[in-house]
Amino acid sequence: MVRNIVKLGDETLRKISKPMPKFDLRLWLLLRDMADTMYKADGVGLAAPQVGILRRVVVIDIGDGLIELINPEIIAQEGEQAGAEGCLSVPGRRGYVVRPNKVTVRAQDRKGQWFEITGEGLMARALCHEIDHLDGIVYVDKMDHEIFGDEEE
Ligand code: NI
Repeated sequence: MVRNIVKLGDETLRKISKPMPKFDLRLWLLLRDMADTMYKADGVGLAAPQVGILRRVVVIDIGDGLIELINPEIIAQEGEQAGAEGCLSVPGRRGYVVRPNKVTVRAQDRKGQWFEITGEGLMARALCHEIDHLDGIVYVDKMDHEIFGDEEE
């Protein structure tokens, strides 16, 4: 089921999300709805606060398949990349944001099993962006400047 996406200006996006303690049907329905919502909106990632749920849950699909991250944390990062970034909660806008070029994240899967995932480039950017949402941070807080029209990225 596609859920409503909370937009910038809503206090929900500024709150710190709590850890997800249970790995049950309720979580699986949330994950399903988050994926539905992300795909419908043509996004590459979505965090639970963006659908009004203050829990540490993220979905990402940069084109290589769906990744579900429960209680994710960045445990290593290296390098730097600068580029354009957008957010489904900030429709019609893009900004120039500097991020690590490579990050390793530790997270739980939908059954509670811990795993690690390493992403570079766009994947690293998506991981950082979505995990920021869990701490009430939106990319506009970190952007160097807004990108207008055809401006070079
Ligand atoms: Ni976002």
